[in-house]
Amino acid sequence: MKNETIYILAIESSCDDTSAAVLSNKKVLSNITATQKIHEEYGGVVPELASRAHQQNIVPVVHQALNKANIDKKQLSAIAFTRGPGLMGSLLVGTSFAKSLSLGLNIPLIEVNHMQAHILAHFIEGQQDGAPEFPFLAMTISGGHTQIVLVKDFFDMEILGETLDDAVGEAFDKSAKILGLPYPGGPLVDKYAQEGNPKAFPFPKPKVEGLNFSFSGLKTSILYFIQRETAKNPDFVQENLKDICASIQKTIIHILMDKLKKAVEETGITQIAIGGGVSANSGIRNALKMAEKNRGWQTFIPRFEYCTDNAAMIGVVGYLKYQQHKFSEQDISAKARYMLSQKKL
Ligand code: KG4
Ligand code: ZN
Repeated sequence: MKNETIYILAIESSCDDTSAAVLSNKKVLSNITATQKIHEEYGGVVPELASRAHQQNIVPVVHQALNKANIDKKQLSAIAFTRGPGLMGSLLVGTSFAKSLSLGLNIPLIEVNHMQAHILAHFIEGQQDGAPEFPFLAMTISGGHTQIVLVKDFFDMEILGETLDDAVGEAFDKSAKILGLPYPGGPLVDKYAQEGNPKAFPFPKPKVEGLNFSFSGLKTSILYFIQRETAKNPDFVQENLKDICASIQKTIIHILMDKLKKAVEETGITQIAIGGGVSANSGIRNALKMAEKNRGWQTFIPRFEYCTDNAAMIGVVGYLKYQQHKFSEQDISAKARYMLSQKKL
């Protein structure tokens, strides 16, 4: 048993990405993701369309993952799947598929919390920064989540702070929409920001107690600012796009870094691991590098394919749970609201 190789097929379908991965222990053999383009037309994820697209994508995506890994279904040790949190209609597709396959192949089923997986993605083999040691602080920043988590062990995590309204990725995307940029606008704001002056337009930072975040006020102040300026000059956005993006990005990064610094002060922990799609942002990457130099932090950023929603991160949690025989029963159901600190993860 000790030297046995465990093959996990993992499935992620919590939002708008249908993803399947095959892992041999903590090593990723394949990680295939079908990104749903349909939502671009609507400027955000449409839940009904997302679940329908998952239904269409899931079989081909799983086939591709098995083929690329060169693994036959019969070799699989277990099926891991995202139980929640996420969109119910989307979660149901992955959950039902995983349950049926585990029943058909007569192998264990392993439920995974999506937020826990974003954090444990750092334990996938072959990350450039290596894996953090316990205890560490994790900051999960994406289109759906913004959390600072104290990670005491693989299955012992405590949320220290989270957003009270919009997620940070939403703040990027909604600001981009105000500027007339297509969805998802985060990467575009980042692109223009890199050539702009971050001090051009000061935006107010919210005053939020403790380690929680709030981004909806920033969005409103950007909206009013743009409305005011375009009333004076209809070409204001076009003429100042880079400076506006740089100013927005600077404000968002300040908000994130202020809370991280506070979390470090409160816990005395200086190992910081980030995850989620916004980890791709050049501003947060630079700020973390500076903090390594100036504050003596040790920072961890997963490879980009493991930052955005992906099944490989579900697979590594599946492997860790398999080792501890944390298996699920066949009557398990998807959970749209699934708290990270809920016991028995
Ligand atoms: O993790 P992810 O793929 O999906 C969610 O779980 O939400 O994150 C997507 C989010 C989007 O809001 C997108 O705009 C943002 O991550 N994002 C970025 C960058 N790349 C992706 N935001 C700012 N700068 C980037 N470079
Ligand atoms: Zn996510």
